[in-house]
Amino acid sequence: MNVTIIGTGYVGLTTGTALSYVGHDVTCVDIDEQVVAKLSAGIPTIFEAGLAELLADVQGRMRVQTSIPPLAGRGVVLIAVGTPTRPDGDADLKYVDQAAKDVAAAIQPGAELVVVNKSTVPIGSAHHVRGIIDRALAQRGVEATVHVASNPEFLAEGRAVLDSFYPDRIVIGADHPDAIAMLRELYAPILEQTFDPPAATPRPERYPLPSLITTSTASAELTKYAANSFLATKISFINEFAGLAERVGADITQVARAIGLDERIGARFLHAGIGWGGSCFGKDTRAIVATAARYGQPMQIVQSTIDVNQRQRQRVVEKLQDHLKVLRGTTVGLLGLSFKGGTDDLRDAPALTLIELLDARGAVVRAHDPIAIPHARAQYPELPATLHDTVDELAQGCDALVVVTDWNDYRHLDWSALAEHMRGTLVLDARNLLSAQALAGTGLQYVGIGR
Ligand SMILES: NC(=O)c1ccc[n+]([C@@H]2O[C@H](COP(=O)([O-])OP(=O)(O)OC[C@H]3O[C@@H](n4cnc5c(N)ncnc54)[C@H](O)[C@@H]3O)[C@@H](O)[C@H]2O)c1
Repeated sequence: MNVTIIGTGYVGLTTGTALSYVGHDVTCVDIDEQVVAKLSAGIPTIFEAGLAELLADVQGRMRVQTSIPPLAGRGVVLIAVGTPTRPDGDADLKYVDQAAKDVAAAIQPGAELVVVNKSTVPIGSAHHVRGIIDRALAQRGVEATVHVASNPEFLAEGRAVLDSFYPDRIVIGADHPDAIAMLRELYAPILEQTFDPPAATPRPERYPLPSLITTSTASAELTKYAANSFLATKISFINEFAGLAERVGADITQVARAIGLDERIGARFLHAGIGWGGSCFGKDTRAIVATAARYGQPMQIVQSTIDVNQRQRQRVVEKLQDHLKVLRGTTVGLLGLSFKGGTDDLRDAPALTLIELLDARGAVVRAHDPIAIPHARAQYPELPATLHDTVDELAQGCDALVVVTDWNDYRHLDWSALAEHMRGTLVLDARNLLSAQALAGTGLQYVGIGR
């Protein structure tokens, strides 16, 4: 099947390579010339486990270019451009609008297309995009059959390739049966798992076939916001209880384990820590609050989720202050910059907030990350922190180390050696990644969240 993907970021690139791998004829389009040049040469532009291997596999088959090819015949176009936050909290559709206009300009007479919003977009965006395309086609006097559908993406960064091949479910919102049929055909290899798994991304054991959920476009659009709001709420919920656990002398990790075994609750996203970050949760929770306000529906739970999350970042600085007393002039080493382990994405990363808050209090900030340092240097050249390539180097002269990102590497650090490099003794584990026992006998003091 002919597939055109507009936007080759975290979503577009993983989706495009996966769809090419399972046998579709894929063209990826991005307006960023550097991104296109790198991808055309087989160089990944983002870090995701298994992506480099996948890109090498589809090299020569999947095209990557800066302009949309003529859209003739039968095919699917997936719009996967960014939908950042506007100052009023709502999603900014400028990239989606431009992509829709570019798609409309490429549609050829007689084409049979489904144009899909894969980006996370506000309720009503399928109708909005259809309007843009219909108007452009009418202006050009082009007759073509074009359906607009919503197919929200649920992949998680850090496991994006895995999620693309082995999703829990695929949601298709469409108002026309032909659109559903075409998208069912697009995803058939994944729904039926008829492809040979890539060596770098094997099929998980006992993976059940994913469900296909077909809905109206509005339901599909709302599903994405509901999913992200719920996941964010689980994290803020456990973080609020972590604060209470500290006051009453309970251990939140034990509480989380005990409630998570109740299958009505579930264990995932119940880890107390510095709170959520990344490009999606903050943007999508704010957007749904703004959307709901326009419809006269208060979203008190989602708003509280946002508030608790913001507070949690400050809480980490307060904990440092509680233990170090004076922050001015102290040296704090941050373990991790990316918003979570497994990705180089720095968007809304808690580490960036910590750097800002600590710098404002006069602390000297140092930071390490196994993957994200080149991104940090390129995207935040003015960051008030020195960046270090090894943890040993980071620890030199630090009064405290803070585990900010849940990188697996940080579970296995040599704390005795680090203790020798440090000036102070505090290790603040803002991800509850370690245990106090891991530091036993090193002379370091372990402080977690809610334990
Ligand atoms: N990142 C995630 O984990 C994730 C998960 C699910 C859904 N989403 C949603 O998917 C969408 C994309 O997210 P992302 O993280 O992949 O974004 P991204 O910023 O990584 O990538 C977007 C890409 O689109 C390109 N682009 C912008 N306008 C274009 C145009 N007119 N034509 C061609 N290319 C264009 C940009 O150059 C960029 O490379 C967002 O709506 C996001 O909310 C993201």
